Amino acid sequence: PSGLPIAENGVYKETADWLRARTDQRPKTAIICGSGLGGLADVLENKTVFPYEDIPNFPRSTVAGHIGRLVFGELNGQPCVCMQGRFHYYEGYSITFPIRVFFLLGVESLIVTNAAGGLNPHFQVGDIMFIKDHISFFGLGGQNPLRGPNDERFGVRFPCMSDAYEQDLLGLAMESAQELGFLSFVREGVYCLLPGPCYETVAECHLLQALGADAVGMSTVPEVIIARHCGLRVLGISLITNKVVTSYTSQEKANHEEVLHISVVRAEALQKLVKHLLGKLGEG
Ligand code: 6GU
Repeated sequence: PSGLPIAENGVYKETADWLRARTDQRPKTAIICGSGLGGLADVLENKTVFPYEDIPNFPRSTVAGHIGRLVFGELNGQPCVCMQGRFHYYEGYSITFPIRVFFLLGVESLIVTNAAGGLNPHFQVGDIMFIKDHISFFGLGGQNPLRGPNDERFGVRFPCMSDAYEQDLLGLAMESAQELGFLSFVREGVYCLLPGPCYETVAECHLLQALGADAVGMSTVPEVIIARHCGLRVLGISLITNKVVTSYTSQEKANHEEVLHISVVRAEALQKLVKHLLGKLGEG
């Protein structure tokens, strides 16, 4: 029944087996492409593509700007799998289902990208922020993707989250940014998850700033929690697509078109960064 936690359905393995039977590729890294950042999947080499609707048990994507395909291939010689189109809480899906399938496929690292609003006044539109930590209004409000009976096949009942964003990966990501000459627009910061789909009010933005959040968005944290639960290494990357509105006299309004526009402008830099980083993962 749909009310059961999906973990009890035991369908992850069915999906993993289905994929394994249809591709020889054995990815070590999974990449989730955020809003407008799906171009990353297009630059893979030796691609095998599965539309989400063809994959047994897979959720489907409902948002403009999100294609729904799973793309296996190589980036900088490294085998990886890209989710071109992710799922959001407000879509009402089991957003985290693919993460456990990746784990069963032998994936060791997760790179998760998103479009986010800039809360930190020092951030510019177009900045790339490596996520060093998160604040989850879901988690704090009792909406955790691990709620329900724990599935011991994947991880422990009480997983640690203080090391969710791995320092070594963060270091390699910064090193990549430096080697590519990107340091002028690369930051590090705290990502805050709100359920969406509304953007924030002015008062809410002030609240989040006071809490020490640097960027705000509607994704990523559930995937990170499920990934950490089963022991994947995680790197999170936010593209700052707009600055949040912190004044009642501002003429600016957060909107999805602006988010998609900036993604296009910075998508190439982000692709280069991830590609460069994968080379480093391959060396390690
Ligand atoms: Cl300003 N807010 C939220 N919640 N998500 C976003 C965003 C803002 N900009 C991009 N995604």
